[in-house]
Amino acid sequence: MKAIVTGINGTVAPVLARTLLDAGHTVIPWNRSRVPPDSRKAVSNFICSEHPDWFFHLATGSPDWAESVAQVCARQKVKFLFTSSVSVFASAQRGPFTVDSLPQPDDAYGNYKLECEKRVCATHPDALVVRLGWQIGKTPGANHMVDYLDRTFRIESHIAASTNWYQACSFLEDTAGSLKYIMETLTAGVYHVDGNPGLNFYEIAMGLNRLLGEPWIITPSGSPVQNNLC
Ligand SMILES: NC(=O)c1ccc[n+]([C@@H]2O[C@H](COP(=O)([O-])OP(=O)(O)OC[C@H]3O[C@@H](n4cnc5c(N)ncnc54)[C@H](OP(=O)(O)O)[C@@H]3O)[C@@H](O)[C@H]2O)c1
Repeated sequence: MKAIVTGINGTVAPVLARTLLDAGHTVIPWNRSRVPPDSRKAVSNFICSEHPDWFFHLATGSPDWAESVAQVCARQKVKFLFTSSVSVFASAQRGPFTVDSLPQPDDAYGNYKLECEKRVCATHPDALVVRLGWQIGKTPGANHMVDYLDRTFRIESHIAASTNWYQACSFLEDTAGSLKYIMETLTAGVYHVDGNPGLNFYEIAMGLNRLLGEPWIITPSGSPVQNNLC
């Protein structure tokens, strides 16, 4: 299959691209300097000229861009997947969430992701909307949990990790495999991707410390009290 992937300079998209390539698919990365997302004409011309089978919209771009790519893909009968986030649920909402739980975001990022979801679904009736938890990479330097832990340790010389925080999360490679599977196999709807079997943040941080051989000093703490497992 031929897939356009947005957000290729980010954290998840390069891992997805590798997964798709390894499976024999063709990946066309969206280059924003060549195809400006705010030009509806450029967006339409690019998608029509590439004529992909699949479109993975992973970039954290504007809701207008999400809507315009969804619109062109609907018109061109291109299977369309948009990555959202469990942040559409407020921190005060208690998981585990199902796809029938009502999102009530309480911050700018959650509101932004929910607006994108709504505009994508209103525009592309067969859209796949996939809510991801916090991503876990193996090395710092991108937008994921290990980078957060490493930065926190460097700044504070220890990491206070809550035993009352149950965070939806997954390793990047597992997320990429799930996105590929959902695109290949599933039909229109909202999906949750969460690899956490029920561990709290302290247990996860300790596990990553062991797995990656890091020198982090991790202490258990009581806050935040939060559950956004899916
Ligand atoms: N990382 C996580 O823990 C996490 C958790 C939950 C959900 N997600 C979701 O997963 C998807 C991928 O996340 P990610 O962690 O890979 O994101 P990221 O590392 O922050 O990368 C996002 C990419 O989006 C593009 N982008 C950034 N700002 C933009 C703007 N203003 N306009 C247009 N494009 C812009 C850039 O790619 P280009 O320069 O290649 O265009 C950027 O590299 C997103 O939808 C995100 O909401 C991520």
